[in-house]
Amino acid sequence: MDKAKGFLLRLRIESLLAFPSSFEYNHAVFLTTLTAQTVPTPTLRFIPEKQLQEIRTLFPHTSRGLLYLNHAATSPLSQRVFDSMKRHLEDRSEGKIETFLDDLPQIQKTRELVARLIHAESADRIALMGNTSDAINTVVAGLPWATGDHILINDMEFPANVWPYLNLRSSGVELETIPCPDGMLTPEEVEMRIKPSTRLLAISAVQFLTGFRADLEALGSLCRDRNVLLVVDGIQAVGAVRIDVQSMKIDALAAGGQKWQMAPLGTGFLYVSEQLQERIHQKHLGWLSVKVPWDFFDYRQPLADSARRYEGGTLNAPGIWGMHAALSTLLENGIGEIEKHILALTQLLTDQLQSVDGVKLISPVSPERRAGIVTMELPRNVDAQSVFQSISKRRAQIALREGKLRISPHFYNTPDEMNRNVAILKEALHEVTAAPSSAL
Ligand SMILES: Cc1ncc(COP(=O)(O)O)c(C=O)c1O
Repeated sequence: MDKAKGFLLRLRIESLLAFPSSFEYNHAVFLTTLTAQTVPTPTLRFIPEKQLQEIRTLFPHTSRGLLYLNHAATSPLSQRVFDSMKRHLEDRSEGKIETFLDDLPQIQKTRELVARLIHAESADRIALMGNTSDAINTVVAGLPWATGDHILINDMEFPANVWPYLNLRSSGVELETIPCPDGMLTPEEVEMRIKPSTRLLAISAVQFLTGFRADLEALGSLCRDRNVLLVVDGIQAVGAVRIDVQSMKIDALAAGGQKWQMAPLGTGFLYVSEQLQERIHQKHLGWLSVKVPWDFFDYRQPLADSARRYEGGTLNAPGIWGMHAALSTLLENGIGEIEKHILALTQLLTDQLQSVDGVKLISPVSPERRAGIVTMELPRNVDAQSVFQSISKRRAQIALREGKLRISPHFYNTPDEMNRNVAILKEALHEVTAAPSSAL
């Protein structure tokens, strides 16, 4: 980087650091003076300070000095989630014990919350699931495949979104993996590879490693026009950014609850459009799949009209009580506001990390293509594992994935915490790179 540009970037970072922790500002004004910069100038909109402080009371670890920035792995359970699950477990243990009649309405309300969160047509389009993998498999295994059918996927996907498709090879299905060396996939690249035999595009709404956010609006229209199913792994997006299954023309959306939805492990959902449901011949049937499960001996009855037909048997009620509390918290704060806050936090990280010597961002810089994940590579001669350990020692929790450092803040994190995290990273880098000489 030339000297003048380096100075301007530093100036920009310092000016960002000077802003108070919860503030709505547009650094466009500042950047108009930086003619050398070609970086877009988004308005950073944080959740107002008072609201943010209230939200933080739900997360006890925030007052205990832990800087948790690993929501792309597993989110903390809020106090509200914990209390809700605890009440249910107490009831199961020493209260009513049989809580079925309380659980059923809660399960339906949870389907309704999911429908609101992703703008589904109704709660009838939602099946509650134990994880993303089960949800994807429900769709993939239930579709009628023929030899020569073609599926498009890409080489950035988390394995949960790959194995269910690899499993189709025995049915003669051709799985084409689009290489994405720069960590992105455009609708144009997908379009180029669609052929008459293409049946399905499998993609994550947000990639687990790079944080790349797919242009689902464009992909949805493309797929609909070309009669290709769009099946989305939404676990790294739902709860962090807006997902609208209708406007995005998503046929199926699968998402575990443990990450951005902030729900317990072993929760999640599957959204299936009505049209797709008609094409799925489900591989698993259970007593709860049918229209009237309590008509035990009526084996001639049809399946449930709704996506409940994919649920099969007794659900994870403790998890669902927790999931209901988690989704209520997100929806009460507004997913649009949450998205803006997360994008502002990841913008701060993006801006600051670009000026850290030796650090190379692999996440998209543009806010349209980014969500809650910022990932970086360290120089080859720096041991990422040691840097990661040094960061953990300083009570900041991020992730080490494929030798890269991944930071993923959620809606209760503050701009100050982003600054602190970058400072900790610099300290850790210094400690690790200084180590060999100090050992002499
Ligand atoms: C994109 C993606 N899909 C799925 C999963 C997890 O799948 P499951 O919910 O089946 O455990 C992860 C991360 O763990 C992920 O990053």
